[in-house]
Amino acid sequence: MSAAYRAPVATDPAGLSDEGGMDRLSSEGIREGLRTTFVGHELVYLEEVESTNAVARRLGQEGAAEGTLVVADYQSAGRGRLGRRWQAPPGSSLLLSLLFRPSLAPAQMQRLTMACGLAVADAIEARTGLRVGLKWPNDVVIGGRKAGGILTELELQGGAVAFAVVGIGLNVNLDPGTLADLPEDTRPPATSLSQALGQPVPRLTLLLTLLEAVEVRYLALRQGRSPHREWAERLTTLGRRVVVSGAGRRLEGVAVGVEADGALQLRLDDGRLEAVWAGDVSLRPMG
Ligand code: BTN
Repeated sequence: MSAAYRAPVATDPAGLSDEGGMDRLSSEGIREGLRTTFVGHELVYLEEVESTNAVARRLGQEGAAEGTLVVADYQSAGRGRLGRRWQAPPGSSLLLSLLFRPSLAPAQMQRLTMACGLAVADAIEARTGLRVGLKWPNDVVIGGRKAGGILTELELQGGAVAFAVVGIGLNVNLDPGTLADLPEDTRPPATSLSQALGQPVPRLTLLLTLLEAVEVRYLALRQGRSPHREWAERLTTLGRRVVVSGAGRRLEGVAVGVEADGALQLRLDDGRLEAVWAGDVSLRPMG
């Protein structure tokens, strides 16, 4: 059975305007609208912060509960994967981090990221009707362009996971042109929900739906249900010729599958099957 969260799809385009103040983020607005049992119940909202992941990590070290949420309107030093920056003008995006204490071994932690990636897709589809794909390992893509990303950071103690911080950045009402000062090689073609939809998307409504979807997906994970199959079905990368780069190496081949714990299976041109755990994927024409 699918664990997907199903909120009613917003069919009324007028409902996507901010007439009800549902774009503005605030602690009160989030608390009032929250319909979860634990995700977001411990909440830190900040107008501006360096990185929500850094705040969530500190809270985790201080013993904060599972589901603790840190949200910001603006990050001055937002962190992306592979040591990159994550940029978003104030008021344009959802920038949040969630704290989890899952009973998973470090090597299984991509399952948590898979579950959260699926929750992001569930929430966007429920609120906008846009079709959402995932690009290995953690990109959220719409129409072949990157609309968001996930950065999971682990705190290990004695070889076990003490807690994980899942950071989610979503381009909601952002003009991708404003990201143009990022170096070309670190800038996959970007989009935003408003660009893909042709109208603004209220961030508070989307955030509340996302928190519910995360809770549904996380509870399923905690009950031992793997998100792997649904995650693999959403991957835009599979069956394509790709180049994977990162960690000082570059591999080219056909992405034939993903392992249960998230490694990308690459069929190299010499026929060997290589499992890749981290890196960036770019698509190459077949041939
Ligand atoms: C990626 O590189 O695709 C992952 C980007 C993750 C960005 C989010 S924004 C909220 C959270 N805080 C951070 O500093 N980064 C993550």
